[in-house]
Amino acid sequence: MTGFPVERTRRLRRTPQLRRQVAETRLDPAMFVLPVFVVSGTGVRDEITSMPGNYQLSIDELIPLAQEAESLGVGGMIFFGIPDTKDDQGTSAWDPEGPVPRAIAAVKEHAPGIVTWADVCMCEYTSHGHCGVLDGDVVDNDATLPLLARAAVAYAAAGADVIAPSDMMDGRVGAIREALDDARFADIAICSYSVKYSSAFYGPFRDAADSAPAFGDRRTHQMDPPNVREARRQVDLDLLEGADMVMVKPAGPYLDVIKEVRDMVDVPLAAYQVSGEFSMVKAAAERGWIDGDRVMMESLTGIVRAGADIVLTYFAIDAARTLKEQR
Ligand code: PBG
Repeated sequence: MTGFPVERTRRLRRTPQLRRQVAETRLDPAMFVLPVFVVSGTGVRDEITSMPGNYQLSIDELIPLAQEAESLGVGGMIFFGIPDTKDDQGTSAWDPEGPVPRAIAAVKEHAPGIVTWADVCMCEYTSHGHCGVLDGDVVDNDATLPLLARAAVAYAAAGADVIAPSDMMDGRVGAIREALDDARFADIAICSYSVKYSSAFYGPFRDAADSAPAFGDRRTHQMDPPNVREARRQVDLDLLEGADMVMVKPAGPYLDVIKEVRDMVDVPLAAYQVSGEFSMVKAAAERGWIDGDRVMMESLTGIVRAGADIVLTYFAIDAARTLKEQR
């Protein structure tokens, strides 16, 4: 290094073309997975107040959205169901006529370019909103495993490409892998939400999916925000149990965790830019306090720069459109 004035780092930033050429991080819509909320019925398109531009959709309304995502090159969609009925066991989670299996089948048929992801958790299906069955007022880890496995098999049977357990029960990856293999779905992949923190950033999602716990919280099974060594342990255990990909969630406030996991694994790494991250950008942009488009792209770039291969994001369609316009 000779230093200034021979060296001037600004030379490579002089034009947009130069900046584009030397960019170290590139976004591709194939990396994006769009989360969607599915309900029964037809013609349902209810906007989620705290997540502008996101809707609870019936299947007929979901299809054009999936086709739009496909035409923009968006890689995948992940489905969350709002069932008609809930009970204390969450039995509607594995109803083959439930919103998620029907959504998966419809997207497979009408937008085959989309990789279909099924979130597996009981919280949308239990009357109490907890991620598993209760024993008193604690979630019974081991009793929940067969229920998760049953839901996973129902989603695989509907055509899910990726099963993504988000419940954070210990042992669920192994239980789901075994159930999938027994049901002849040995080729269906698991992306574990291995490193899922107990986060206040999930607030808007719980309105969208109607899944807030009726009492208590999720701190006994979701990770504690101060911990990062523990994240390595979660990932190790899930890989041992057969996870094909792992996820860190939330994304933006946990970029160091993404980097930590990136440095320890060779499997694809996903990161979930969650509802609160999305809604904060939207709210500030609506007030004119930030440039929403630029913050969207910058936040996604940060997540990918930290090491994510796949980003689950409510911005998937907008970001894909922006990337297309930039070409
Ligand atoms: C659980 C689940 C949650 C999210 C994804 N899967 C909520 C939770 O754990 O409370 C949050 C996603 C988001 O905030 O965007 N089924």
